[in-house]
Amino acid sequence: MNYQIILEEIAAETSVLKNSGKVATYIPELGKVDPGKFGIYLQCTDGESYATGDSHERFSIQSISKVLSLALTLKLKGNSIWQRIGVEPSGDPFNSLVQLEYEKGIPRNPFINAGALVVADILLTELKNPKEDFLQFVRDAAGDQSINYDEKVAASEMEHKFRNAALTHLMKDFGNINHDVDTVLDFYFHQCSIAMSCKQLAKAFTIFLNYGKYDLSKEAAILNPMLAKRINALMITCGFYDESGEFAFSIGLPGKSGVGGGIVAVHPRHYSVAVWSPPLNSKGNSERGMKALELLTTKTEQSVF
Ligand code: DON
Repeated sequence: MNYQIILEEIAAETSVLKNSGKVATYIPELGKVDPGKFGIYLQCTDGESYATGDSHERFSIQSISKVLSLALTLKLKGNSIWQRIGVEPSGDPFNSLVQLEYEKGIPRNPFINAGALVVADILLTELKNPKEDFLQFVRDAAGDQSINYDEKVAASEMEHKFRNAALTHLMKDFGNINHDVDTVLDFYFHQCSIAMSCKQLAKAFTIFLNYGKYDLSKEAAILNPMLAKRINALMITCGFYDESGEFAFSIGLPGKSGVGGGIVAVHPRHYSVAVWSPPLNSKGNSERGMKALELLTTKTEQSVF
């Protein structure tokens, strides 16, 4: 399979999309990014990697962090977390409040904001130094100690925290948040603010390949097969909010998006791939990134289906 040629074809064929969609501005710091950026990085299970475009440039991973925080939480706590978070697709936008009221403060899944806020609350209990320990997990998964929080993005989101604050307050009222609301928000916003390149993301997501056995040097971050299976299942059913069906239909891989314009997807037997293009569609997912991944699974004829 000539992945390099395929990636270059994808970059060329999707370049018509570079002006469609809108860069997220509800977190003002994210609105400063150049909308024309595009990168893609593919890490294969045989150790080879392929890339094109701005694949080494760091951007805000935003909701992609939700997969990594869930992975660490499941490693630490196992199945007990499912008393506080569901495993069903929500069919609603990522920051919706409506289901939480009638489902009594139990978020539908760990990838909508409410679910990730409960995960943050659990990690605050489990980790001695939550911000340092979570960052170390991400660095170990990626095999790159230079990864860091972007304090400007975290502060920008805290200034505009109102919807996430509403979600956290509502869940606290239902008894599903143990810590102080602003402490949970600060930790969650820091997770979302992590700056990583497509290369670093593709490498970090190898912990979900071959059920975690692909790179044994990542001992600290490695997942047992059952956890990798479950997280991949959640990515395919819930990774794109009310566009999860569309992603499974068009791309056919477990994946996760972020409002920074990044998308990571994994083919458990073949590769992990990260793509970045900041303009988003109306569901908050990268417009060009979605098309690029659709072309990848079409041209390679490799999907989980
Ligand atoms: O909480 C938020 O709204 C953002 N920090 C993350 C949202 C996000 O990335 C949704 N994904 N497409």
